[in-house]
Amino acid sequence: MSIQYFEKENIFLLNTPKTSYIIGIFDEEQFLGHLYYGKRITNIEGIHSLARTMEPPFVPSKNDRDRSSFFDAFPFEYSSHGVGDFRESSLKMRTKDGHTATSLVYVSHVILRGKRKLEGLPATFGQEDEVETLEIICVDPVTNVRAILSYSVFSDCDAIARSVRVVNDSNQPLYMERVMSACFDLEGRDFDVLTLHGSWARERHMERKPLGHGIFGVASLRGESSHQEHPFIGLLSKNADQTSGEVYGFHFVYSGNFLAQAQRNQFGQVRVLMGIHPEEFCWKLEPGESFQAPEVISVYSDQGLGGMTRTLHDLYREHLIRSPWLHKKRPILINNWEATYFDFTSEKIVDIAKESARLGIEMLVLDDGWFGNRFDDNRALGDWQVNEEKITGGMGKLSDEIHAQGMKFGLWFEPEMISPESKLFKEHPDWAIQVPDRRPCRARNQLVLDISRKEVRDHILSQVFAVLHAAKIEYVKWDMNRPLSDLGSAALSSDRQGELMHRYVLGMYEMQERLLQEFPELLLENCSGGGGRFDPGMLYFSPQIWCSDDTDAIERLSIQEGTALLYPLSCMGAHVSVCPNHTVGRSTPFATRGMVALAGTFGYELDITKLSEEDKTAVQWQTRTYHAFNDLVREGKYYRVQSYAENHDHDCFMVTNAKADKALVFFTQVLATPNMRSRCIRLQGLKEEANYRIQIVNLDKEEQFTDTGKVVSGGILMNAGMIVERPWGDFQARLYYLEEI
Ligand code: DGJ
Repeated sequence: MSIQYFEKENIFLLNTPKTSYIIGIFDEEQFLGHLYYGKRITNIEGIHSLARTMEPPFVPSKNDRDRSSFFDAFPFEYSSHGVGDFRESSLKMRTKDGHTATSLVYVSHVILRGKRKLEGLPATFGQEDEVETLEIICVDPVTNVRAILSYSVFSDCDAIARSVRVVNDSNQPLYMERVMSACFDLEGRDFDVLTLHGSWARERHMERKPLGHGIFGVASLRGESSHQEHPFIGLLSKNADQTSGEVYGFHFVYSGNFLAQAQRNQFGQVRVLMGIHPEEFCWKLEPGESFQAPEVISVYSDQGLGGMTRTLHDLYREHLIRSPWLHKKRPILINNWEATYFDFTSEKIVDIAKESARLGIEMLVLDDGWFGNRFDDNRALGDWQVNEEKITGGMGKLSDEIHAQGMKFGLWFEPEMISPESKLFKEHPDWAIQVPDRRPCRARNQLVLDISRKEVRDHILSQVFAVLHAAKIEYVKWDMNRPLSDLGSAALSSDRQGELMHRYVLGMYEMQERLLQEFPELLLENCSGGGGRFDPGMLYFSPQIWCSDDTDAIERLSIQEGTALLYPLSCMGAHVSVCPNHTVGRSTPFATRGMVALAGTFGYELDITKLSEEDKTAVQWQTRTYHAFNDLVREGKYYRVQSYAENHDHDCFMVTNAKADKALVFFTQVLATPNMRSRCIRLQGLKEEANYRIQIVNLDKEEQFTDTGKVVSGGILMNAGMIVERPWGDFQARLYYLEEI
């Protein structure tokens, strides 16, 4: 890790172990230009030529006549608005006179050991010997806006964390209509663009296509990062695959509206922008006030997508997730949602707990429906008092009964919501986000609380804390089941209504921070109608996030592949549920459901009292496997080996430990094909010279391992392949354990 400033050359060189990022200062006006991002460079001789300032239109001091030609082609480090660069802008400030032109030039810089916190926002962190930060101070001399562009590089990860702070140094209020967190003007190569798209129950499916001229972008205007699109964009060289080729990945550490776009201009240059979506955003900055934009993570890999994936996994595990649970084995949980939905009593919950404990499950999570008159999903959000009709004797008693089984206890909340049919709404109708005189749009019959307001946050948290203090509760599932619409806050002035979406996200972060301060040992799992707010911002608060409401093992293959592209397996909430599956009606073997869930946080979401004796026994084999291998899954290096989304036949990925002397290979055959030979699958991440003994980990029989009798070298397994026998039947899973001998 190092950040160097070469004064004579006016160059900043930012190095991670294997990558370099180079910025230069140009011309008399001190334009900040982007020169290079890629494989590490140690000798920067001649780097200036990349800015092409020695060819027409030169620079404004030599050719002001064609200033616009310069502006429209120069690789800017942070693009201007309305002054001749017709590509997308990074910052747009409206003055009281209504002008929006904004253009920044370099003024000074500082280089710091460590990394500052971003006020009110989740962000990566590191010790002084792990991370170094460059802050470049720029100003717009006309509007007197100051922007501090911040770049942090890590000593153990090939990632750069960027953000921007904007300060109003003028004596007038300014309105910020657009603030991107990062702009990357990359040399124009023939890139493919990779994004994750989805829907409820179909989150984070990978999509790759050529990047043509014009703008391609993904976005959310839902007030959360969303099921539909993900705050990530990847640029891939045409030959990039899992193991080779060049990949740039950009990921937004934020949980609200976002814009992630790539623009290919007339000269083939590519500008990537990432930040809060400018639509529905306008932030008033009074003189002297500042605004902190959220963080963007960028990764460059010359070892294909796998290189990017493992960098992000390491970065998030070591420099983003703060929970004391991060490196711990999480209790195997059972959640009652798919078992009972709203129809339960404490007796039923205790019955589930008793049977679960007997089979090796370690925590019971009571989901939606335990409070107010919440007998269905039409009411009671906001009334966080225990419903004693269902929970006889109160939550303390139920918690004691669960603990008496030797289990931990967890509880569901949806703190950001309000039901129009609730006591809270009767008392405080103005606490719902809505536009005066307009009937607010309901979703799941609920409205969103205006948690941009402190009194609202205080009120909800005091209720949540009261429940959590009255009983022993080790885990909380924090859900959020609808997007934001009808944007109006009764507490904001007319010229600040455009701040609501971001203030909402800041309010939610503050609530989660306070929850964790009050209960530092709490295991928090975030959730949003499944995986609608699965993003790096939420990981700063919770070490795990519910991946999807779709618990079908086959649907989960693509959902978990897309999720693991960016996130460590340790944070993917994954449970075994019953068949036919409640979302797609598919029936899959119990062992397959177990293996797919074992690749995540692992748990159950079913009425265990109704399972067949055969499946109950299999629960014991699955929990045994979890204990044997969770360290490897949670902490290991992840390699995507085969993609069912691509080959439409089977799925395969693996994890190795740091020394690569142990590996687990997860293989799933989707549909069986007749009259075929066994498959030969090339593995990754092993040691070429080592010999590995290959065993099958049984999820469907008493005997824990079946020795295949094969010992194969890493070189053979990776270059030629591992023979995988064809299982009999559809939806069959195989878990292989490889150990160096
Ligand atoms: C959506 C979640 O994803 C489910 O797991 C469950 O908690 C329901 N909400 C409860 O309303």
